[in-house]
Amino acid sequence: MKIESALKPYNTFGIDAKADKIIVIEDDRDIARLFPLQKPYYILGGGSNVVFDGDYHGTVVVMRNKGIRLIAMEQSSFTTALDTVLVEAQAGEIWDDFVKYCIAHGWHGTENLVAIPGTVGAAPVQNVGAYGLEAKDLVEEVRAIEISTGEKQSFRNDECHFAYRNSIFKQELSGRYLITSVVFRLSTKFSANTNYVAVANALAERNLALPSAQQLADIIADIRWAKLPRPEDVGSAGSFFKNPIVTNSVYETLRKRHPGIVAHAAGDGFHKLAAGWLIEHAGWKGRSLGPAAVWNKQALVLVNNGGATGRDILRLADAITADVKDKFGVTLEKEAIIL
Ligand code: EPU
Repeated sequence: MKIESALKPYNTFGIDAKADKIIVIEDDRDIARLFPLQKPYYILGGGSNVVFDGDYHGTVVVMRNKGIRLIAMEQSSFTTALDTVLVEAQAGEIWDDFVKYCIAHGWHGTENLVAIPGTVGAAPVQNVGAYGLEAKDLVEEVRAIEISTGEKQSFRNDECHFAYRNSIFKQELSGRYLITSVVFRLSTKFSANTNYVAVANALAERNLALPSAQQLADIIADIRWAKLPRPEDVGSAGSFFKNPIVTNSVYETLRKRHPGIVAHAAGDGFHKLAAGWLIEHAGWKGRSLGPAAVWNKQALVLVNNGGATGRDILRLADAITADVKDKFGVTLEKEAIIL
């Protein structure tokens, strides 16, 4: 168990804040020694979805416990083969290492979520998603410890109340559980998920009707890095805002006024608007406010151009939110968590 205080290495925005105490958890022994944990505390995965608005007056627990193991093989309903695998990954595994490990072991399903920053334990909290897939499509069970009692508890997929960038762990149970590992339901048979238009187009361009899992992951990583800043080069928290969900009638009104607006149907009666498009058309793409800026290739991403504080980033976010509201009447909601 390591005890530290500087938060800069633990948040991908690279914000130079401090915590009263940072506890780095590396294994089960560290987890056992963590309790009782005094409030206030915050459990951090890869720190790729948080903004520290000043110093954190409390304990930050950084999950770095590792381990991936096959726990069961099952038969899916369509075959007689044992083609379904249940794989448990410890919460502190780096998400992308987990994806690569699965591909290397012939356990399929995670490919579209390649190269997402963050950890395995954080993935179900905000139900990470990209390129036509969300964590909820893969999670079998989330294993956790109730912080107030130290009791172990597991949550089946349907008990996690997954929704777009949301789950019970971000809502009713926020801050109440320490996620220690996640069990995923994967398959030994690969079939490419090409629901996302850009993915289907990229495969067609390369004449790859039947890509291998590795080819698909490579193409998706290319699509991702063509638009998003690499965390090792530029500080950011990925998408800073959620794509707003509006009623079909709001969408129709917007579409009449702004024929180019980008949106997708999002269930009965709703459309999900591309927030990146709204921000770009409110004139913010590539602009900066002090050391905080809007990424020039994807306006949904705010970046730290060097030395930005949480305040600088929030000032920029507020200015964007006000302009988008003014121009489109739509309120942007932050995806990143402000601490
Ligand atoms: N667009 C613009 N201008 C921009 C950015 C986007 O016009 O500056 C329009 C484009 O038409 C584009 C569309 O918006 O086709 C959608 O953009 P993109 O495919 O980049 O996806 P997104 O909706 O902006 C979401 C996720 C990303 C995820 C991508 C790919 C959210 C909040 N973000 O972004 O997730 O990688 O889809 O599936 O849902 C993250 O959560 O940190 C993240 C990066």
